[in-house]
Amino acid sequence: MRITQRATMSPTDALDRREFMKLGTAAVAAAATARERAAAAPAGLLAAPPIPLVRIGMVGVGLQGGGHLENFLKIDGCRVTAVCDIREARTTWASQAIAAAGHPAPTVYARGPRDFERLCETEDLDLVFTATPWEWHVPVMLAAMKAGKHAATEVPAAMTVDDCWALVESAEKHQLHAVMMENCNYDRAEMMTFYMVRQGVFGEVLHAEGGYLHDLRAIKFEKQDEGLWRRAWSMKIDGNPYPTHGLGPIASCLDINRGDRFDYLVSMSGPSRGLYDWAREHFPAEAPERRERYTLGDVNTSLIKTARGRTVMVQHCTNLPRPYSRINLVQGTKGMFQGYPNRVYIEGRGTAHQWVEAAALREEFEHPLWRTLEARAAGAGHGGMDYIEDHRLITCLREGTPTDMNVYDAAALSAVVELSMKSTRARARAMDVPDFTRGRWKTNPPLGIVTV
Ligand SMILES: NC(=O)c1ccc[n+]([C@@H]2O[C@H](COP(=O)([O-])OP(=O)(O)OC[C@H]3O[C@@H](n4cnc5c(N)ncnc54)[C@H](O)[C@@H]3O)[C@@H](O)[C@H]2O)c1
Repeated sequence: MRITQRATMSPTDALDRREFMKLGTAAVAAAATARERAAAAPAGLLAAPPIPLVRIGMVGVGLQGGGHLENFLKIDGCRVTAVCDIREARTTWASQAIAAAGHPAPTVYARGPRDFERLCETEDLDLVFTATPWEWHVPVMLAAMKAGKHAATEVPAAMTVDDCWALVESAEKHQLHAVMMENCNYDRAEMMTFYMVRQGVFGEVLHAEGGYLHDLRAIKFEKQDEGLWRRAWSMKIDGNPYPTHGLGPIASCLDINRGDRFDYLVSMSGPSRGLYDWAREHFPAEAPERRERYTLGDVNTSLIKTARGRTVMVQHCTNLPRPYSRINLVQGTKGMFQGYPNRVYIEGRGTAHQWVEAAALREEFEHPLWRTLEARAAGAGHGGMDYIEDHRLITCLREGTPTDMNVYDAAALSAVVELSMKSTRARARAMDVPDFTRGRWKTNPPLGIVTV
């Protein structure tokens, strides 16, 4: 199937038509191999020409998109000049927020679910930023790049391996950025972990664990916002639909796509109970929610082996009562970091076999970006990390440097969605993770320690 055809299909149609859950692994492996045999990826990492004032079109200004918009209003060197949402209440809110910041009113696109195409085609923009439900990320990104704009998306970038390839192929063809906005890469503890890894504190990193363990039952059943779309995914897939919060930070520590890469994955899900119990406990017998059938196992666990032989565990659990965690465990030959609560063990420091609270080492190992931006990030979404993430995107675009996360990262991390589903369906059979870099992972430079 050609990419142009994929891009014009409705995402739901695309999923149904391809019935990717039923696809044999051989078909996917063949498609991936053909692509891997195709022309080599461009040398080096994309550094687009610098953009002094980044003009942004925002598609989807709901809860998360609204947070990004508020950040952009505070970041120097960017303007939100167009907004698009299927809900007029949200475009009105966005226009008012932009006016209140003293910026010119944006052009509004609110003529339905494909109006982002008109935005991409008609607006003079540098960046299209989407924070829509998952099924819309790829159509918006492809429309943006086709129209010559850089693209950024909320997570996960894509729900299928085919769509991951579509993003890679489009970004390479148009020489544009396609960035997945993984805010957890910028959280304080994760950045401290990364900084410690870069200082060699943990020796050689051999294993890492991450996850998205967040009781979303109430949110999934709301009559607004994520309640309108997120629960639906629990009725059509089983696997890990949301792997990137856990994987993003540990992928940086493991130099994924920059010295190592995800090689293959195995995945298993347990039973689906949490949403049934919630529906029974919160809705009357005749409510439609009581008749819903959920496919998503409440706990999904995947193991990934890297090309250099290291191991990653990534988990998803959003349907059960539990405290929040992204695990954030990074283990090396000299010590380890573990999140929730944040703690560190460094051989030869402190008491043998005993954790040290990470806060006690913050003065020594705080990431420089947090030292620079903490005050400005105060009050922004998710403890400030969303501001830092948005600030970095704008800085890279203005300076014309490679973005921290690029299209290969978006693809490698998002591919876990479909691969975990396939492995789960196939009694945890190993699924190859495509090498979206087509060999460039061996020579791509490692992610550096950035300060602004
Ligand atoms: N990184 C994070 O921490 C984080 C947190 C929450 C959500 N998210 C991600 O952000 C995205 C949005 O989630 P949310 O919580 O903001 O959901 P939301 O439902 O609050 O917002 C989505 C918005 O997109 C709009 N929309 C839907 N289809 C559209 C279309 N075709 N064109 C234009 N607008 C459309 C909706 O009207 C809504 O305003 C999702 O990808 C989600 O995974 C990320």
